[in-house]
Amino acid sequence: MIARTDATGGPGLLPEILEFTSSLTLDRALLREDVVGSLAHLVMLARQGLLCAEDSRTLRAGLVALWEADSRGELHLPPEEDIHLAVEAALTTRVGEVAGRLHTARSRNDQVALDLRLHVREMIALVLGHLASLLELLAARAEAEQGTILPAYTHRQRAQPISLAFLLCAYGAMFTRDVDALRFVLSQVDVNPLGSGAIAGTSLPIDRELTRALLHFSAVNPNALDAVGDRDFVLDFQYAAARSLTHASRVAADFIDFASSEFGFVKLDGALACGSSMMPHKRNPDVFELIRARSARAVGNLMSHFQALKGLPSGYHRDLQEDRAGLLQTGPWWCSVLSALTTALPRVTFDRERCLAALHCDYTQATDLAETLVQRGVPFRVAHQAVGTLVHRCQEAGIPLARATPELAQGIHPDLDLAALGTLDPLACVRRKESAGGTGPRSVSLQIVALRKSAASAALTARGVPRLQTLFDELREAPLR
Ligand code: ARG
Repeated sequence: MIARTDATGGPGLLPEILEFTSSLTLDRALLREDVVGSLAHLVMLARQGLLCAEDSRTLRAGLVALWEADSRGELHLPPEEDIHLAVEAALTTRVGEVAGRLHTARSRNDQVALDLRLHVREMIALVLGHLASLLELLAARAEAEQGTILPAYTHRQRAQPISLAFLLCAYGAMFTRDVDALRFVLSQVDVNPLGSGAIAGTSLPIDRELTRALLHFSAVNPNALDAVGDRDFVLDFQYAAARSLTHASRVAADFIDFASSEFGFVKLDGALACGSSMMPHKRNPDVFELIRARSARAVGNLMSHFQALKGLPSGYHRDLQEDRAGLLQTGPWWCSVLSALTTALPRVTFDRERCLAALHCDYTQATDLAETLVQRGVPFRVAHQAVGTLVHRCQEAGIPLARATPELAQGIHPDLDLAALGTLDPLACVRRKESAGGTGPRSVSLQIVALRKSAASAALTARGVPRLQTLFDELREAPLR
């Protein structure tokens, strides 16, 4: 019970209270972060003359041994309040009393703030890698699906013909914003809290600039009191995750509809579809349903973190420890959803005939017909009304727009002639929409190029994120003088 003194009440904390207050089962997952942070702190203490050469070598060897034992799956930590004390206790077992020198000029308050920042930074690198793969996949699939056309929906009613490539680029645009969001989170995380101490800094001659450089942060927190209570970067990460998973959820919602018999637009590969334990005929889109559901849980984690923060006075409070469960869940969920999408999408085939049939039997070219009249000088509102009347007459006659005759149409407006009605082929409707961001093939080709760029730049940003393994490799060799 390292964090207890006579003033606390001696070593006798009730075991059930220890169990209730301990975060060790959760933040055991932060061992690598904790060891890396301690190595940087130790190098700094040594160079500042706060640790002698021999002690610093002993402590470093002990921390390196803990990391390596953990990598081999052989590290057993004693029961303690949290990962920080458990590491100190394990270090004491290995190197003896000298372990007590490592916590010089440090508090668990700045230590946990550091571990969480290192953790979020590591997760960002992983998520960016998944986003890069997904964006690349969407770009490649879009390239192959320029000729597949289907209805786009507003209000879940057939709206206008689009290419499947265009729909896939829309998904890509959402995930590109996730890359941007992660860059913002990265900028928020990129600050060194170590050296803030418990709340007010320290009277010892530490060098926060040195730990900043050793841990590859761009700046140090400007205020110790703020630094130990600041979990905004956790909020930012949780928000970026909840938003991105919401994007994934919306993609999934499309595919759940598309796979239904009512739409019949897609077929799920047998290796992707799930069955029913009772109904022998089922080919269910469970993967997409679970992608949709997981976003709900990520939103829940964001909300609970907000709730934990909103009532807190300034400074550190143990409430902050409750960030752990949600934070440690959300990152892996995010990765798992992106990777499930990346695995699932290539195993979904579009039924081109059904998609086309949904256009041929409907009225989705009505806007194009109105725009044809506008090109002949008819005011848009007049054209809109005329085509609306034509659609109504077709509906009464039980025929799709493509089968409207000039006799029927010209009775409504003289410009609704054979030539105008000849522009109703859905593929031609798609081809004409070359406004920037539209579904036309030239516009979509540009969108595909942009997606590829986003994929490459996400991968580049991911590669630039300092990783725990690299920090460990550097810190185990860093000069102690
Ligand atoms: N386990 C705490 C957390 O994760 C860190 C220790 C906080 N300091 C304290 N004096 N209880 O937030």
